[in-house]
Amino acid sequence: MKIKNICCIGAGYVGGPTMAVIAKQCPNIKVTVVDINEARIAAWNDENLDNLPVFEPGLDAIVAEARGRNLFFSTEVDKAIDEAEMIFISVNTPTKTYGKGKGMAADLKYIELCARQIARVSKQDKIIVEKSTLPVRTASAIKDILDNTGNDVAFQILSNPEFLAEGTAVEDLLSPDRVLIGGDTNPEGLKAIEALADVYANWVPQDRILRTNVWSSELSKLTANAFLAQRVSSINAMSEICEKTGADVNEVSKAIGMDSRIGAKFLKSSVGFGGSCFQKDILNLVYIAKSYGLNEVADYWEQVILMNEHQKQRFSDNIVSTLYNTVSGKKIAFLGWAFKKDTNDTRESAAIKIADNLLNEQAEITVFDPKVVEERIYADLEYLNTRSNEENRNLLKVENDPYKTCENAHAIAILTEWDEFKTYDWKQIFNKMQKPAFVFDGRGLLDKETLEDIGFVYYKIGTGQ
Ligand code: NAD
Ligand code: UDX
Repeated sequence: MKIKNICCIGAGYVGGPTMAVIAKQCPNIKVTVVDINEARIAAWNDENLDNLPVFEPGLDAIVAEARGRNLFFSTEVDKAIDEAEMIFISVNTPTKTYGKGKGMAADLKYIELCARQIARVSKQDKIIVEKSTLPVRTASAIKDILDNTGNDVAFQILSNPEFLAEGTAVEDLLSPDRVLIGGDTNPEGLKAIEALADVYANWVPQDRILRTNVWSSELSKLTANAFLAQRVSSINAMSEICEKTGADVNEVSKAIGMDSRIGAKFLKSSVGFGGSCFQKDILNLVYIAKSYGLNEVADYWEQVILMNEHQKQRFSDNIVSTLYNTVSGKKIAFLGWAFKKDTNDTRESAAIKIADNLLNEQAEITVFDPKVVEERIYADLEYLNTRSNEENRNLLKVENDPYKTCENAHAIAILTEWDEFKTYDWKQIFNKMQKPAFVFDGRGLLDKETLEDIGFVYYKIGTGQ
């Protein structure tokens, strides 16, 4: 079966870039990305490519090439479902904030709504692709809904988790390490798997397209994120030992990373991992383990999150204790708010927690991030509900000039590893700060010797003083 018409429900950080790349690589397939969020769809359709709702290096060029040719963004969900042979579900699956599993389980209400809508609208057989990250065995729930509320059409459910990382989404999508497709092992299932594999085969080598059963595919996604996050928590745990012993975490990372069994990637110590996936997916895994009574397994993975919380807490504690045990009324400049460089995404960013901790200590914070807009920053703080929005706005200001951000500051906290921070005139920044001028480098971004030569008191995560 050759797919000619694809619909993707959810025009977010995954749906948008993923479909843009499919459309670019498969000019013969019509790809329609739909969303109920009208503002988001309008932004995807904006003439000015700077206004796309997702910032990813290289994405604007791809959208410019494919949009209007075979890539469409629309709010007409029913119409797109009706026309498509293959439907990707790429809606959000956040951690539940209510009821059973609150704070741990994945909230599948958006997934279920999609399934019900697909069932209601579909008049021909369709292949449904789980692109969202889902708990293992979700496919059977989706199938139940489709089969019991549909119009007697046949559905095949595939799991095709997305492994892109934000900031490198285009690169990751154009040359993925692997594409994972899980499906039923009966003839119809295998046919559906091949239909999706054929789409990817337009640009992905066959030996990178991995076929598995549905449950393996669903669980592999949670496992991959758990392993990646575990590496960050592991190196962050070592960073604290390094600081006590005079070892340098960057040297330790290099030394262990040269062991080919360990590998060099994902060993960068930081102020803590963020992003919409790691915490959510591990909590989900912990919940699944607990629901099967596997308490040791649950505790093992939960520790990855606890270590990450500790890393954020000890970073802000260190700022307070270094600034003579009080930051009340002191100006702390934040460089970076995004959860990593090259993205405007701030979900679960360490900066949010660090800001909240310091605001509790009555610090006055100014923030500069090259891509994150002011309203996002206030919304992130508001979401925590720690204090009134008015108080947040009084105590925290957002600047669009990094030099102004640091003017008169007692300390600078580097919270995102944006490359441009390395190119700043640090001497000029030093001259306009309060003295002693502190830099707390939560990303190990700057050169210790250079900063100390200028006169800064420089703290680098994972480096003995
Ligand atoms: P997102 O919040 O950016 O986008 C989801 C979109 O789905 C939103 O625009 C929302 O309006 C829309 N939506 C929700 N319900 C809908 C409905 N019933 N009909 C139409 N539209 C609807 O989320 P995201 O970051 O793109 O993540 C989507 C999924 O992909 C999640 O399961 C996530 O875990 C997974 N994932 C994310 C990443 C990542 O880097 N962000 C990477 C891999 C996998
Ligand atoms: C992650 C997975 O990498 C990706 O495969 C999955 O599809 C979605 O979740 P993402 O969250 O976008 O991607 O970014 P990632 O590069 O994994 O970084 C996550 C967090 O870990 C960031 O806050 C980053 O700064 C931090 N990190 C990463 C470190 O602190 N040290 C590292 O060595 C690597």
